[in-house]
Amino acid sequence: MKKQVKNNVFWVGKVDWELRKFHGDEYSTHKGSTYNSYLIQEEKTVLIDTVWSPFAEEFVENLAKEIDLNKIDFIIANHGEVDHSGALPALMKHIPNKPIYCTANAVKSLRGQYHQDWNFQVVKTGDKIDIGNGKELIFVEMTMLHWPDSMATYMTQDNILFSNDAFGQHLATEKLFNDQVDQCDLFNESIKYFANILTPFNPILRKKLGEITALNLPIEIIATSHGVIWRDNPLQIVEKYVQWANDYQENQITIIYDTMWNGTKKLAEKIAEGIGLADPDVVVKVHNLAKSDQNDLITEVFKSKAVVIGSPTFSNSILHSVAGFIHLMKELKFKGKKAAAFGCYGWSGESVKVINELMANAGFEVVSEGFRHQWYPDADAQISAVEFGKTIAKL
Ligand code: FEO
Repeated sequence: MKKQVKNNVFWVGKVDWELRKFHGDEYSTHKGSTYNSYLIQEEKTVLIDTVWSPFAEEFVENLAKEIDLNKIDFIIANHGEVDHSGALPALMKHIPNKPIYCTANAVKSLRGQYHQDWNFQVVKTGDKIDIGNGKELIFVEMTMLHWPDSMATYMTQDNILFSNDAFGQHLATEKLFNDQVDQCDLFNESIKYFANILTPFNPILRKKLGEITALNLPIEIIATSHGVIWRDNPLQIVEKYVQWANDYQENQITIIYDTMWNGTKKLAEKIAEGIGLADPDVVVKVHNLAKSDQNDLITEVFKSKAVVIGSPTFSNSILHSVAGFIHLMKELKFKGKKAAAFGCYGWSGESVKVINELMANAGFEVVSEGFRHQWYPDADAQISAVEFGKTIAKL
């Protein structure tokens, strides 16, 4: 059933309550998600984006209950990724010749995925389409936010920015708008989405946010492609993005480790104690990597000014869980964060050195040689770990 966004603009998307993993198994979605598709019924009838392919038939069926599909004048594909374009093949079977407006890169993406020669109409920043009743759609390329083909569409008069992935959250809700949902959920899912998806593109994002601001477009509504639509103070999420895109950090140190026989775990707890003693104001969080959600941990890293990484030595190296997580942090291109390493060992003891090298390679400033201990930490070693924590807090 379509839901009104404003005047003749309607939401015709899909709420995916069951979704627990997104991008394959790469991103945890504890609270599900939505795939937002929008129908504009002015003198022209326009569909903006569709839904993920498992819901394609349902989407087309529902849309056909709302309008005669032949009445759609054109489609806008703000982004070719399958969670927004996945219902195009099912829809285009009914209206094969209707134009699809998208960027040149989106043509490559849509052709590459669906192998169809649809009626693509390439647009670039500043191109406009008259949709009647004095309203226009203006396109703004959002290259690398987060794919090379991404773009946003702005609707004049109603002042709606259809921002696609930007400003979204993975949050399933029957409510359409930001003022209708739990604000903690909304904030947590927004920052997690930014930390896990947008962090690598911070320099581009800073430039693009500046460009959008310079366009001086009045924005009353930001209609994203995931989660709620921002209508109550919509610029609040833009302001957050400006903050987050500037190598964001809070007064937080996060300790992340994996452990085999709890020696490294004991060190983690003692290091946390030391940090807390040296700096009572700093937020210290301790996570066993093997028992934590990796995307939630990335959000903690995003908020941190420093991360302290621990692994026991295993086969002259580190546990693969720790290596994998450092790889994930490297992919996200964090800037301006410090790091230190720790770990227990039984024989050769390379883990701290390996972590230091990997963390430096991942773009972190390694501020200490690290702390390692042979065998399970006795009372003296535990005191040393507390002292190491104090040193880290000071560094
Ligand atoms: Fe929500 Fe980049 O797709």
